[in-house]
Amino acid sequence: MAPSSLVNQVTNQLQPYPMEELAKIRSKLQADGKPVYDFGTGDPRIPLWPVLNETLKASLTEVSQYPRAKGSEELIDSIYKYLFERFAIERSDDLDVMATRGSKEAVFHAALSVAGRSGKNTIIFPDPGYPVYASSAKFAGAKAYPVALKVDNGYKLEPWSLPNDVQEDAAAVWVNYPHNPTGAEVDESYWLQLIDWAHKRDCVIFSDDCYVDIYQSDLSDSLPQTPLVYSRDRVVSFFSLSKRSGMTGFRSGFMAGDARFMKAHARARANMGIGTPEFIQAVASVAWSDQAHVAERRKVFSSRIALAYPRLKRLGLMDSPPRAAFYLWCRVPPSYNGDDLKFCLGLAERGVITSPSRWLSLDTKGYFRMALVPTEQDTEVALDILTRYVEESQ
Ligand SMILES: Cc1ncc(COP(=O)(O)O)c(C=O)c1O
Repeated sequence: MAPSSLVNQVTNQLQPYPMEELAKIRSKLQADGKPVYDFGTGDPRIPLWPVLNETLKASLTEVSQYPRAKGSEELIDSIYKYLFERFAIERSDDLDVMATRGSKEAVFHAALSVAGRSGKNTIIFPDPGYPVYASSAKFAGAKAYPVALKVDNGYKLEPWSLPNDVQEDAAAVWVNYPHNPTGAEVDESYWLQLIDWAHKRDCVIFSDDCYVDIYQSDLSDSLPQTPLVYSRDRVVSFFSLSKRSGMTGFRSGFMAGDARFMKAHARARANMGIGTPEFIQAVASVAWSDQAHVAERRKVFSSRIALAYPRLKRLGLMDSPPRAAFYLWCRVPPSYNGDDLKFCLGLAERGVITSPSRWLSLDTKGYFRMALVPTEQDTEVALDILTRYVEESQ
């Protein structure tokens, strides 16, 4: 698109949001009357736990008032209870929590508070990764520093390996495990090393934990963790009801972390117009207090992975199944010479929408992401189409 003189350089240089491109492809297929199997956007259409909608209806009021930006007492209590039951994180003076309108806005606005802190102006983030880490850094006037994640070290972001001047200037580092799009996870030793590095370098760790409750149903120990389990000092974690409770449309989550950051950032957030409506807070409070509906959702994703992974492995597109999140990160067949866009557009013409790695990354080519969003029945049909498509190219 031609640059507009009515907006600044940051807005002019933004790439179209990848999900908007996928929506265009979907609309075209639908307009042509073709069946569409959409594995593009990570927004599973699984019916909500009915209690959530019932709570919503019961919470509507005749008089509407501004909500508290931080969240109601009831919601804050449910959040602390969740943190304790899931992670054994206890309430204490060095920890603070606040409601957010989902992770996206919280991720975006966090950059505004760290850019330039203590004379540091670099924000480090994973690539491939959630696009808002980069865009928010740019809007905040910070230096956006992507780190290419590699399969060889399990897609770990290791800031201690970066050039010294980048480490010194790092105001914050984003991490996201379980990771979108690769499904990668990290263990305790990684968290401890990252925290140790952040303390030595005086860098804030922003941990995007929106997939922390989405893991394979049969995992009983070594569940994904948040770095807050290991330290509160300079650690801030972002949680969301979007994936764990399927509440993408409600826009609800919370931040938890180092009270020194949280209290100061709360003053900034009071200016941003992002208070969560009270009827949404009431639903959120119920959602954080219940773990059974989350276990049900995990079963759905686990059975979708069990269905899709063996077929993708047989096609030579994957080597091991993800233990967490609901994405399959697949190689494109060798005959495409790493051209993920060509592969995905060809597949989309046959009605199966996936995300090419170059839309999710500055650096990674030759992969595509399948969000396990469609039903098992539709996934079977789509895998048949994918199998024929791959076999024809060999
Ligand atoms: C890694 C990651 N972070 C944040 C988000 C935003 O989630 P929310 O719906 O809570 O804004 C997503 C959504 O897909 C995501 O994949």
